[in-house]
Amino acid sequence: MADEIMRITGGTPVRGETTVQGAKNSVLPIMAAAMLCQGETVLTNVPQLSDVYAASRILNRLGAHCTPDGHTVTINAADICRAEIPDADMRAMRSTIMFMGPLLGRMRQCTLTRPGGCALGARPINLHLDAMEKMGVIIRCTGEQIVCTADKLHGARIPLAFPSVGVTENVIMAAVLAEGETVLTNAAREPEIADLAGYLNRCGAKIRGAGEGTIVIEGVPQLHAAEYRIMPDRIAAMTWLCAAAASRGSITLRDVRTGDLENCLDLLRRAGCKLGECDGTLFLDAGGVLRSIREIVTMPYPGFPTDAQALLMAVLATAHGTSVFDETIFEDRYKHAGELVRMGADIRIKGTAAVVEGVHCLHGAYVEAMDLRGGAALAVAAAGAEGQTVLHGLHHIDRGYDHFAEVFNSLGIRTERMVISTSSRGKTSA
Ligand code: EPZ
Repeated sequence: MADEIMRITGGTPVRGETTVQGAKNSVLPIMAAAMLCQGETVLTNVPQLSDVYAASRILNRLGAHCTPDGHTVTINAADICRAEIPDADMRAMRSTIMFMGPLLGRMRQCTLTRPGGCALGARPINLHLDAMEKMGVIIRCTGEQIVCTADKLHGARIPLAFPSVGVTENVIMAAVLAEGETVLTNAAREPEIADLAGYLNRCGAKIRGAGEGTIVIEGVPQLHAAEYRIMPDRIAAMTWLCAAAASRGSITLRDVRTGDLENCLDLLRRAGCKLGECDGTLFLDAGGVLRSIREIVTMPYPGFPTDAQALLMAVLATAHGTSVFDETIFEDRYKHAGELVRMGADIRIKGTAAVVEGVHCLHGAYVEAMDLRGGAALAVAAAGAEGQTVLHGLHHIDRGYDHFAEVFNSLGIRTERMVISTSSRGKTSA
């Protein structure tokens, strides 16, 4: 059997610059939303990710014509003729649940199974189903299949029990062609929501308040297609910043929206990093000793994002003092901690808390990515560790990062991606 690994040689401070990729968590719902629009949608600044190709395959199997070409994706949904997504496709990622809203908006029906994606806990879809039922959808669960039908979709008042990103996006996509007005309260405020609304409003939708806690959608008879540039990926940006911080180096990021990262940047400053920005370019310098941070709580936007929790932990593993994380969004999102301990970190998990005692330095080890951001965090830790780290589970990283190894090499972190025979696993060299 063969397997792919990345061998990262740490200990050299990052010195470099890179352009931040387009946002995975924006392009995926926008690709699904393109099903609602007449004509050819052209998306630019699209990251080259396995999740994007998975979404493209699903759109084509539904009868749309989706063509990824480099960092551009064109989608013409005129010929959509199916409303069922096979279980194997649903399991590819969490964001397959985003097809529910647009399929209902376009076809008034859909048959799905539960989505896949990173194993961060139960990740139920109850809030998705509740919201669709409020808009007139009849939902029948038969075994694994979730069968949704609606004579018509009507506007509704939908107070969310939790500001769920995916539910907010699904409601927007189901409501834009529904009859009447939908008022969504306690909505998620992540920047990707505003990006989705920006695309749909350019297509003729009437969405107000995206990015705030209350979103109002006035249904319209139809939408036309549009060209749209995907926003920069704020979590990819935080990944590269953390690689520079973990290696006590410096970095320049181009095409970054610092407004989307305020909470992350504030924590990096509190740890001792120096940051500056100018015209969409962000500079970070982490020379010197980094300090621990007593309390880091993951929260819905604009709070500290759960997707950055592992990344910051990889930095604070070698900061001076004790840092304490509280992961309040997902119930099982510390899988990376055990792998960081294999690299010499001192981390203890107590329920939703992770207590990180800073150590002088991490060392290279043989580690495994268990989910997308946890895997990226191990690479960040490897950048600052002494010696070589061999990272397995690259399929997780490929879901969300466009040419990860190439970016690391451009930052001066020696990174080799290679195929190995699995019989050699467990040895120190690949
Ligand atoms: C989105 O997931 C992102 N994924 C996640 O990024 C991100 O971590 C998450 O939002 C939070 O910011 C995409 O956008 C594709 P939620 P989503 O619904 O929509 C619970 C990454 O690494 N919940 O806001 O699935 C849920 O279990 C990924 O890029 C219900 O209970 O997140 C969780 O505890 C990982 N019932 C909380 O809400 C539901 O019906 C937040 O989930 C839906 C959600």
